[in-house]
Amino acid sequence: MPRRIVVLISGSGSNLQAIIDACKTPDYPGEVVAVISNKADAYGLTRAADANIANHAISHKLFDSREQYDQALIKQIDAYQPDLVVLAGFMRILTPAFVQHFSGKLLNIHPSLLPKYQGLNTHQRAIDAGDTEHGVSVHFVTEELDGGPVVLQAKVPIFAEDNADILASRIHQQEHRIYPLVVKWFCDGRLTMQDESAVLDGKILPEHGYANEE
Ligand code: GAR
Repeated sequence: MPRRIVVLISGSGSNLQAIIDACKTPDYPGEVVAVISNKADAYGLTRAADANIANHAISHKLFDSREQYDQALIKQIDAYQPDLVVLAGFMRILTPAFVQHFSGKLLNIHPSLLPKYQGLNTHQRAIDAGDTEHGVSVHFVTEELDGGPVVLQAKVPIFAEDNADILASRIHQQEHRIYPLVVKWFCDGRLTMQDESAVLDGKILPEHGYANEE
């Protein structure tokens, strides 16, 4: 039985699409059972509908507090009994209660080489800092914003003529490769979080995740 995946989005959903496409490949161990967005006009909801996947918009604007919103989200997600919850461009700060509820089965993708550039506008910040390389990280989510253990990173060069949009699209190409791979590791039972470390095939991964041991 494939593992049940719920994906949370706020926008275009190109990472969602990469995961949906991967799930269609032979022997992929996961299946996207629902997509939830905090924005009703997120294109990712159309992608889900096109793939015949259940989808919901739950606007944060209808709730008085972050806590109430996250409780509604938990309820909707739990209705699908997921093995894994994937944040794919879900642009919300999560409450501790939400993170604890899904602890060990909550993955995020963040467009920087964590722990560098937590938060927003990562591409422009990397350019402004004069960095020559940038990248993307897939990590388990803990209560520390963008601070959970990294599973896998991909690096890209920054060229002198780059702007944030060009860099973002270069990063996106890498995102679409590494996120389905990490989701596969999780669904195969190879990847877990233990004591706030990412563990792959029984080995604790180093700070920058797999394949980055110096
Ligand atoms: C991705 O680049 C992802 O790394 C970023 O949002 C984009 C969503 O694109 N996530 C964050 O910035 C989280 N802090 P998509 O909707 O096309 O998948």
